[in-house]
Amino acid sequence: MKIAVTGAFSYTGKYITQRLLARGHEVITLTGHPDNPNPFGGQVQAYPFNFENPEKLAGTLAGVDILFNTYWVRFSHGENTHERAVKNTKTLIKAAEKAGVKRIVHTSITNPSLDSDLPYFSGKAELEEAIKASSLGYAILRPTVLFGDEDILVNNIAWLLRSFPVFGLLGSGRYSLQPIFVEDYADIAVEMAMHGENIVTDAVGPDIFTFKEMVELVAKQIGRPARLIKMPPKLALWASQIIGAFVGDVVLTQDEVDGLMAGLLVSSEPPRAKTHLADWLKEKKDSVGMKYASEMKKHYR
Ligand SMILES: NC(=O)c1ccc[n+]([C@@H]2O[C@H](COP(=O)([O-])OP(=O)(O)OC[C@H]3O[C@@H](n4cnc5c(N)ncnc54)[C@H](OP(=O)(O)O)[C@@H]3O)[C@@H](O)[C@H]2O)c1
Repeated sequence: MKIAVTGAFSYTGKYITQRLLARGHEVITLTGHPDNPNPFGGQVQAYPFNFENPEKLAGTLAGVDILFNTYWVRFSHGENTHERAVKNTKTLIKAAEKAGVKRIVHTSITNPSLDSDLPYFSGKAELEEAIKASSLGYAILRPTVLFGDEDILVNNIAWLLRSFPVFGLLGSGRYSLQPIFVEDYADIAVEMAMHGENIVTDAVGPDIFTFKEMVELVAKQIGRPARLIKMPPKLALWASQIIGAFVGDVVLTQDEVDGLMAGLLVSSEPPRAKTHLADWLKEKKDSVGMKYASEMKKHYR
């Protein structure tokens, strides 16, 4: 089959692409950075998103059977707002319909809601509705926090633990999250692509941690026993902004604090993924968090 993957040179899209190529499919990618180093050499041709030119976007998708969509923005920055990401994704969905794409495998988030005050969660809910209303067959996958080699959250927790003698928790640290290994996620996405029916499902890992437990686990595995201190969320956010000024990044946003503390990153469905964060950390204990992972560097420089 001919398959289009957004962000094949980036994070989730890269692992999905590896699997599709291994199965012998032809893969093209849509990306904001078509000139970035291509880890697949000549095997994957890159095209710009062309959100401002839907005709051209539909032309790029001509002959594509399945579209894997990972496109989204983590936080609003300049013109790259969640609102814009919703609009762009709707353009992508329409272009896929026009091009005759048969199925979309779309990455959403656990617990999306049209009523949410958090634009990440309401925007994802709006896109799920747009996909259901389209003529495309669909698999909508709802992951939580992803961990893996190019991950940001778990890596930067490890980096903070390696860099500072204390770790400031947002409030009590008792809110839960259920991370999933990015390679498990890619396996699930590829499996769901090959299904005939329309599917909406959570895609989460086997462990539910409180945030405090997760930080303690990372600390234990990298051998940096943590002195955790509970901080009022506003103070922790302020501290993250100071660190952000040094590393040239947005470490954490108010919306992310709210989403995390509201317990939106857990599922009530049985886990589909098997890899335990503890096992992955054991394997990566010497490399995880050795360098700060910057969202700004990744997407804006
Ligand atoms: N990472 C997580 O922990 C996590 C957790 C839950 C859900 N998700 C969802 O999983 C999907 C993939 O996430 P990911 O972390 O793997 O993302 P990613 O690979 O870094 O980016 C995915 C795609 O979105 C584009 N993109 C990302 N940020 C952008 C920005 N600020 N401006 C313009 N384009 C941007 C990328 O463009 P380029 O091709 O130019 O790089 C890429 O095509 C997203 O839908 C996300 O909401 C992720």
